[in-house]
Amino acid sequence: MKGIIFAEFLELVEDTFGLEICQQILDENQNDGVYTSVGTYDHHDLIKLIVSLSKLTGISIEDLQEVYGKSVFITLFNSMPGLEGKSDSTFSFIKSVEEYIHIEVKKLYENANPPTFNFISATESQLVMDYVSARCMSHVCLGLIRGCAEHFGENIEITMEPMTADRSEVRFTITYV
Ligand code: HEM
Repeated sequence: MKGIIFAEFLELVEDTFGLEICQQILDENQNDGVYTSVGTYDHHDLIKLIVSLSKLTGISIEDLQEVYGKSVFITLFNSMPGLEGKSDSTFSFIKSVEEYIHIEVKKLYENANPPTFNFISATESQLVMDYVSARCMSHVCLGLIRGCAEHFGENIEITMEPMTADRSEVRFTITYV
């Protein structure tokens, strides 16, 4: 997984919980905390850091993933030139993530492995899609969608329904309110 994802996570932990907690979760995992934005790292390391942070703070892994996803949205958005002004809504942006952005990510970094979205149905007010990823980070996805809606100044409701026990496939129903 790309280093930008890790660097952003550690920055959020430091800003939210302080340097000491940040150092503690790194130490617990014998992790030196050095991530360059172009490097590629094992995504299990991110899961381990989130698990440690959850134990230390008492905040659930799902909630931590969501908060992280919400805050990383704008960093990802700004990391790809030309996205500003291309989409005008949460729904059209999510479609462009599947049809363009994640495809570009794979072209740019041959070992990147972003999730797949299968669009099930779409009306003006509701989008139903399946998140598919062996990385099982559906709550990061939830946070990213919330960050996206905030960016476009839209109010949305999201329900999630696991399609597989390991949550490698999760159905998202996103509704404008
Ligand atoms: C609504 C917006 C977005 C959603 C819902 C979304 C969803 C996700 C999720 C859930 C992951 C974690 C990996 C996984 O679950 O398999 C991910 C990874 C990633 N996404 Fe997106 N994403 C969004 C926007 C963007 C944008 C704007 C960029 C801009 C470049 C981007 C680039 C990436 C990259 C680089 C990774 C890491 C892939 C890897 O290292 O293997 N995403 N995305």
